[in-house]
Amino acid sequence: MLEGYDLDRLAIATLASHSSLQIVHGAKKEGFETLLVVTEDRAQFYRQFDHLVDHFILVGKWRDICSEHVMRSLREHNAILIPHGSFVEYVGIDCALSLRIPFFGLRSLLKVEASQRAKMELLRRSGIPVPRDFPPGGEIDGLVIVKLPGAKGGRGYFVTSSLQEVVERLETAIRRRELNDINEAIVQEYLVGVTAYIHYFYSPILNRLEITGADIRYESDVDGLKRIPPRALAELDLEPTFTVVGNIPLVLRESLLPIVYEYGARFVNTTKELLPPGIIGPFCLEGVIDRNAGIKIFEFSGRIVAGTNIYLDGSPYSYLYWDEPMSVGRRIAREIRLALERGVLGKVLT
Ligand SMILES: Nc1ncnc2c1ncn2[C@@H]1O[C@H](COP(=O)(O)OP(=O)(O)O)[C@@H](O)[C@H]1O
Ligand SMILES: [Mg+2]
Repeated sequence: MLEGYDLDRLAIATLASHSSLQIVHGAKKEGFETLLVVTEDRAQFYRQFDHLVDHFILVGKWRDICSEHVMRSLREHNAILIPHGSFVEYVGIDCALSLRIPFFGLRSLLKVEASQRAKMELLRRSGIPVPRDFPPGGEIDGLVIVKLPGAKGGRGYFVTSSLQEVVERLETAIRRRELNDINEAIVQEYLVGVTAYIHYFYSPILNRLEITGADIRYESDVDGLKRIPPRALAELDLEPTFTVVGNIPLVLRESLLPIVYEYGARFVNTTKELLPPGIIGPFCLEGVIDRNAGIKIFEFSGRIVAGTNIYLDGSPYSYLYWDEPMSVGRRIAREIRLALERGVLGKVLT
């Protein structure tokens, strides 16, 4: 895919959304050209950052990135694409997999990420503690969270301890064609504790796993419920959603770090084994930490997550590795730079 590329003039490219400003900011710090693919409605906003962006490619809709002329234009700019957290959601999995532009990251992981079940299976096979899983419609034991496929930001999820409610609501979902088969739903132990979203970076060049930060997702409505007195809450009869509206920084107790590191290392090793060459660059484990400091992981993301936007100037952890301001966006560019210098660019691209 690098055929015809001028390696002295690579452009770090992504879609203008999610963590794109962080990505181009970091790429500039590492001396790369930068490119943003932007839709017309957002162009005016992103143009104010033209000191960070060398090239804009304007598209009518995100999927146009897979059209011949946009792809040609990306190749002419020697673009390396950074697929961030919204990438697949915007362009679709087929476009993402077929795109003839080099990706920074593990492309085959995108397929796993398209299925909640496959995701949980990868975590399980890594030996990472996960919430218990119940067969949809079968006996449950305590509070569960029910996840419908394709439900975004938790919309369409519900929490209950009643088997009857699980069955009734899954049947309704089938009638409404939100679900083809009851087995597409996930019925999972609801974890009590606090949520923590832990950011990692695996460097194939340095053969090193780094913890780059952690955050809390601020989710509406669940995070607002504590503002409502319990009596009023009962009257409200509200089905809370988990829609992310922003991210709050989190610095973990130092005694949690070795455990969290171990989970990350297991994830790296399993992806190396099952999806060679294995994870490249940023990923995130999403978990709940309980009162005994036990950590269970309910989801992962195999790319840069928006929670890293908090640390544009580096996090308390990235300083320990680099002793200079190192956002994840910049860390990505640094990895590409290190790979280039060593003549092994292929090691970080798929
Ligand atoms: N097993 C669980 N126990 C407690 N809360 C959960 C659990 N699974 C998910 N959540 C909550 O629901 C939110 C969305 O769930 P998640 O599985 O990450 O789906 P997505 O990010 O695709 O919307 C999480 O950020 C978390 O707040
Ligand atoms: Mg999630």
